[in-house]
Amino acid sequence: MITLGIETSCDETAIAIVEDGFTVRANLIARQEHLHERFGGVVPEVAARAHVEALNPLLGQALEATGLDFGDLDGVAVTVGPGLVGALLVGMAAAKSVALATGAPLIGINHLEAHYWANFLEYGAPDPPYVALIVSGGHTMLVHVPAMFRHEILGQTLDDAAGEAFDKVARLLGLGFPGGPALDAAAQTGDPQAVRLPRAMEDSGDLDFSMSGLKTAVLRHVQAERAAGRAIDIPDLAASFQEAIVDVQVTKTLEAARRTGVARVLLGGGVVANTRLRERLQGAGTAAGLEVLVPPLALCTDNAAMVACLGTARLERGERTGLDIAADPNLPLAT
Ligand code: KG4
Ligand code: ZN
Repeated sequence: MITLGIETSCDETAIAIVEDGFTVRANLIARQEHLHERFGGVVPEVAARAHVEALNPLLGQALEATGLDFGDLDGVAVTVGPGLVGALLVGMAAAKSVALATGAPLIGINHLEAHYWANFLEYGAPDPPYVALIVSGGHTMLVHVPAMFRHEILGQTLDDAAGEAFDKVARLLGLGFPGGPALDAAAQTGDPQAVRLPRAMEDSGDLDFSMSGLKTAVLRHVQAERAAGRAIDIPDLAASFQEAIVDVQVTKTLEAARRTGVARVLLGGGVVANTRLRERLQGAGTAAGLEVLVPPLALCTDNAAMVACLGTARLERGERTGLDIAADPNLPLAT
C-alpha cells in the first residue's frame, strides 16, 4: 500500500511517500524560515503563498525520486488541523485534487496525533497504553493513549507552548528565528545553574504547564544585567532557561506516567529535537523503569512521513474522509 502524505500546517511544505505504513520511500521538506526571519515569527499569509509555490514541484520530485506515478497511489493523507488555516488549505486542496483525480481514498489527519506517530516509523507500532508528550511551536500537551486512536488529555499549557517560549527567549537574546535550535546550540557551552529561574507549576499538583512566569523572569534578568552595566552571558542564560523548561517537562511527564500506570512514554513535536530534553527525559524515564521512545531528529519537526504513516493505519481500518472536509485550525485530538 502506497500512501502519499501532505503536511502544510505551519511553515514547512512537506511531502512524503510511505509504503505499507512504515517504509519511507520519500520524505521531502521545503523550508521557508528565510521568508519569516525578518518578522521574527511565522506570517500566515506569507506561509500560505510559499506553500502554493513549493507544493507542486515538491510532489513532482517525490514521485520522480520513487519512480512512482499518481496511478500507483493507494491513499492520500493530509493534515487538516490544528494549524494556520490558510496554510492548511493549500495542502488540503492538493490532497483533494490528487484523491479526486486518481480515485485513491482521502484521509484527514490531526497534526498532533501524527507527531507522536513519528515514533512508529522508527520503532514500529507500540502496544497501548502509553503517555504521549507533545511539544511543538503551537502545543505543549500530555496525553494518555489507553487504546489505539483514543486520547485523554492529562494536561496542557495555559499560555505559551514550549516551542513558542524557546522562540521568544531566543529572540530576546538576539539568537534569530526559529529560536529553538539556536538556543539549544548556545546552551551547549553554558552552565544550567548559572541563573536562578522559576520552575513554573512544577508543584501545582496538576499536569498543566505555564511559560509566562519563566519568560518574565528571563526578561527581568536581562533588564537587571543591562541596568547594572554587565554583559549578558548568553550561553549561561540559554542553558538556565532550557533547564527550567526541561525540569518541568520531565517532572510532569513522569507524574503522568505514574498516575496512568503506563510503562511507556512517547515523545513528539519540534521541541523534542532539543538535545537536553531528549537526554534528560530518556535518563529520568529509564531510571523510573519507563520505556521512552524518541523519534529521530528529522522526524521530530514537521514532516509528512508521520502523516502518511498515521494515514495508512487509519485507511487500513476502513476510515475515509469526504472531499468536502474543511480545515480546522483548532482541531482537537479524537477522544
Ligand atoms: O513541531 P514543529 O516543527 O512545528 C509545530 O507544529 O509548531 O515545532 C517547531 C518548534 C519551534 O518553536 C522550534 O523553535 C522548536 O520546535 N524547536 C526546538 C528545537 N528544534 C525545534 N526547540 C528547542 N530545541 C530545539 N533543538
Ligand atoms: Zn508540528
